[in-house]
Amino acid sequence: MRQITIGNSGITASVVGIGAWAIGGDSNWGPSDDTESIRTIHHAHDLGITLLDTAPAYGLGHSEEVVGKALEGRRQDYVLATKCGLRWDIDEGYMHMERDGIRLMRNSRPQRLQEEIDASLRRLKTDYIDIYIVHWQAHPDFPVPIADTMGFLMDLKQQGKIRAIGASNVDRDQFNEYVKHGQLDLIQEKYSMLDRGAEEKFFDLCEKHTVTFQPYSPLERGVLTGKYDLNTPVGEGLAKARVKWFERENLAKIVELKKKWQPLCDKYNCTMTHLVIAWTAAQGADGNINVLCGARKQSQVADNAGGGLITLDPQEIAQMRADVEAIS
Ligand SMILES: NC(=O)c1ccc[n+]([C@@H]2O[C@H](COP(=O)([O-])OP(=O)(O)OC[C@H]3O[C@@H](n4cnc5c(N)ncnc54)[C@H](OP(=O)(O)O)[C@@H]3O)[C@@H](O)[C@H]2O)c1
Repeated sequence: MRQITIGNSGITASVVGIGAWAIGGDSNWGPSDDTESIRTIHHAHDLGITLLDTAPAYGLGHSEEVVGKALEGRRQDYVLATKCGLRWDIDEGYMHMERDGIRLMRNSRPQRLQEEIDASLRRLKTDYIDIYIVHWQAHPDFPVPIADTMGFLMDLKQQGKIRAIGASNVDRDQFNEYVKHGQLDLIQEKYSMLDRGAEEKFFDLCEKHTVTFQPYSPLERGVLTGKYDLNTPVGEGLAKARVKWFERENLAKIVELKKKWQPLCDKYNCTMTHLVIAWTAAQGADGNINVLCGARKQSQVADNAGGGLITLDPQEIAQMRADVEAIS
């Protein structure tokens, strides 16, 4: 699997990463099988995937606990990313959302981050995080200066508790504040070939500041694997309910896309998932994209890893772009 460097951190990771949101198994994704989740994390490494992303908010600690179990005796094998700034155990902050009677609060004050890093290290059974990412940014109704948050994260780095700093769900001003007050090595943002807004918003900034761009939901929560036809049951969970590509008339366009790309799949002897991941990895500045795909089954991670093995030629990349621009 191709390797990339994360920002200026000196950390090297696989170009395809595994995301452990669904492994949290809450109402966003429906129940997950922890034993299979652990096997999936191990299988990822067998296939060359080293980057592993989780967050306290995924299953309210459960995803981190499962990842912690999976990493026992294998910590050095993974580049471990987790997040901070979203709390369900305090009432202080800006209410990000309410779900299943739980209020998730945005709060990235240094004192609160100190509590969070301690809790994450405990759940993950480790004494360091490779990439520590601010999950959601402060809201004007509960302002926290990025200078304060970044100052605290730089201290954590000094103490050896984290190795690199990331930010997620930022805007350009917030990006610029992060780079002004410390070393930002990665941003994690929504991006897929069907949702390309991040290109204009961030690619120039990432290149200028050598910040790795890590797209989340690059498979549009499974739609871009080509596993759905018009009659496939979508399954439970709020996460998919938020994706417009599961709606019948949109899904019909993906079914057509899959047919159109069959000759390319034949050429590379690959699946639609492979094409989509290889296309995503080829965007932005050379070697500056880390494609973060969620998976909770061994078969899924095996398919996703294949995307890190193909290199499409420039004409194919341009044609695929034209094809998706025609529908999105
Ligand atoms: N920073 C943030 O705010 C944020 C937000 C969202 C996600 N993330 C991170 O990014 C990761 C990826 O995003 P995502 O999970 O939203 O979306 P995604 O990667 O587009 O889709 C993941 C889901 O698609 C299905 N899938 C994946 N690979 C498959 C394959 N090869 N064949 C068939 N089905 C497959 C699985 O769902 P089923 O098994 O249910 O079909 C899987 O859980 C997350 O896990 C998380 O770590 C971060």
